[in-house]
Amino acid sequence: MIRDEDSIERVSEEIAEKYRNYVNPGIANILKFSGFDVPEDWAEGCYIYDVSGRKFLDCVGGYGAFSLGHRHPKVVEAVKAQLDKEALKSHFFMSIELAEACEAMANVLPGDINYSFLCNSGTEAVEGALKAARIHTGRTEYVGAINGFHGKSYGSLSVSGREVYKEKFKPLLPVAKHVPFGDADAVAEAVTDQTAAVILEVVQGEAGVNIAPDGFFPKVREICTANGAMLILDEVRTGFGRTGKMFASEHYGIKPDIVTMAKALGGGVMPVGAFAANAEIWDSLFGSNPYLHSTTFGGNPLACAAVIAAIKTTIEEGLVERSARLGAKLLDGLKSVQAQYPNIVKDVRGKGLLAGIEFDHEDFAALMIAGCGRKDVLVAYSLNNPKVIRVEPPLIIEESELDRAVAAISESVAETSEMLAGIG
Ligand SMILES: Cc1ncc(COP(=O)(O)O)c(C=O)c1O
Repeated sequence: MIRDEDSIERVSEEIAEKYRNYVNPGIANILKFSGFDVPEDWAEGCYIYDVSGRKFLDCVGGYGAFSLGHRHPKVVEAVKAQLDKEALKSHFFMSIELAEACEAMANVLPGDINYSFLCNSGTEAVEGALKAARIHTGRTEYVGAINGFHGKSYGSLSVSGREVYKEKFKPLLPVAKHVPFGDADAVAEAVTDQTAAVILEVVQGEAGVNIAPDGFFPKVREICTANGAMLILDEVRTGFGRTGKMFASEHYGIKPDIVTMAKALGGGVMPVGAFAANAEIWDSLFGSNPYLHSTTFGGNPLACAAVIAAIKTTIEEGLVERSARLGAKLLDGLKSVQAQYPNIVKDVRGKGLLAGIEFDHEDFAALMIAGCGRKDVLVAYSLNNPKVIRVEPPLIIEESELDRAVAAISESVAETSEMLAGIG
């Protein structure tokens, strides 16, 4: 750990220079501008430490990846034990770890969804799901949601719903329509006999924590079934307890045809993604050729060890219930901030430990992220709705730490509005 002031500045500048020369100059500039220009060093539980030893409460949670916190000992132990045995597979033989990871997933996945394909990221999971829907239906079009976020590879980008990330990369996959999230009539209008799949997040994350009205998902389920279209639910962010259910679809009592997962699936230790479906869909994808969709690194034994330990730990530590309970407390706290500052905080919404606070302007939200950072509390930017900041802490967070996060948000609202009043 580097404690000397000069050396902290030197290391920060050296790393910023490497970012400017070798990584991405814009990111170095944004981080410097927002005051996060000291590199992070290590992390444990709900905390991230930078190279100066400064300790941050992590309410970004790796955009959902750190549901178990950083380096959960049970996941670390499982991955280390696997590393001592075998790191990557030959692909020549069967893999015990892959078989057991897919079994562990089948045990928690909804309904008859028993088959999983493991990959390395959320966007790869979505690519696989889009291919599975296409081959199973023999159709080529998709329906997505406005401001939906599914990743940035070509297929995922096509079904995502914010133009700014897409316009320079066209032509993309054929997407018939992006419908307003929560509008079942719009879905009914968009779905035709050409629709391979409707793809939706269950709670929209990057769109600013949008929650659909209660009847929406059951209606979408009906529309898809009636039209022979697949329903792909993207649970990359919401899966494994984030919203207070193992999968967010359980809030609505519906079963998707295909589920995508990533983030928390790897227990915050390994990067893992997956898509999953039932035997019929699997037969369409792999029945004629088991190698029709494949990956070198996906489902590697280190990833599988992390998946098995993550699912076991989530269940053993009651983290799904904890997310529901602490999420209600977090929402109460944020609502009291809204009640205190009704002209500034436009809305507060959430499910489990996925909460969003909407301000009337994106600059206010950006200043809030910096303001909370000055209080050593990290909150997240929303890629497809920058007016909203997100609070997405590890599910292992203590109540007192949640109180601290809410206090930091409340104080930052006061300070930011004072600062802006001073400028104005
Ligand atoms: C709902 C959803 N789907 C897909 C993705 C893409 O995941 P990745 O960044 O691992 O490719 C994300 C990432 O934030 C996401 O939130």
